Amino acid sequence: MSDEMILTSVTDRVALITLNRPKALNALNDQLMNELGAALLKFDADDQISCMVITGSEKAFAAGADIGGMANFSFNDVYQGDYITKNWETIRRIRKPVIAAVSGFALGGGCELAMMCDFIIAADNAKFGQPEIKLGILPGAGGTQRLPKAVSKSKAMDMCLTARMMDAQEAERAGLVSRVVPAERLMEEAMGAAKTIAEMSLPIVMMVKESINASYESSLSEGIRFERRMFHAAFATEDQKEGMKAFLEKRPAKFKHQ
Ligand code: CAA
Repeated sequence: MSDEMILTSVTDRVALITLNRPKALNALNDQLMNELGAALLKFDADDQISCMVITGSEKAFAAGADIGGMANFSFNDVYQGDYITKNWETIRRIRKPVIAAVSGFALGGGCELAMMCDFIIAADNAKFGQPEIKLGILPGAGGTQRLPKAVSKSKAMDMCLTARMMDAQEAERAGLVSRVVPAERLMEEAMGAAKTIAEMSLPIVMMVKESINASYESSLSEGIRFERRMFHAAFATEDQKEGMKAFLEKRPAKFKHQ
């Protein structure tokens, strides 16, 4: 299926969303973010889908918010109108896992979009950065909040204050990305990871995502309590019965996603 600025396809309970403004290095404008948000919501509501992958082109995952589109904005435009990033929050409402498959540049809003995903698989040519300071602005879609949690305060300060880029190897060492793979194997690896997730029980997958995300918003004691309630809830699913029975019968589990 094709919107103007994204392409989508579905295989094996996995939805692939490709950002499709390659000439502008996938600069993120309102239309692209609206189409992305609508696709994510549609796949999240589809019980035939378990996992989503967002990717860009070989040269750029996304080189940031569209600079041309915001160059002449006033404070009133962006504050009262809540322009530029108001439609970026949709991805936070998605309850199924979303993987970012990053090749090339992931800069500014592109790095922030990758960090909004649940994990990042990077090609060995990936470059991450928050260069907004060179434009006389600062990150506006979570860069100053998610980056220090991902890579430490020191590296986040370094990247946001000097605008330097981090290559894929440094990003993996720092914990920003979960795996680095040769560029030509990026999609195979990302789709493979998504397919592996899609073979698990969907309600349990969603509980894992919700529990890990709870660790960002709560004290350790609250988080542990939340996890325990989710763990107890898992025993209400048919898939828990099937998963444990299959183990005891020494066969692969066949989950029904309920
Ligand atoms: N917005 C709009 N257009 C962009 C863009 C962006 N963020 N990034 C690249 N483009 C466009 C370029 O203008 C160029 O268009 P034309 O061919 O029409 O001139 C095209 O994409 C190709 O880019 P370059 O010729 O610059 O390619 P390059 O290989 O020489 O450089 C780059 C690549 C280093 C990524 C460079 O394009 C660049 O620095 N881009 C801007 C990165 C940036 O500052 N991002 C932060 C944006 S602000 C933001 O994201 C705010 C926020 O937190 C929400």
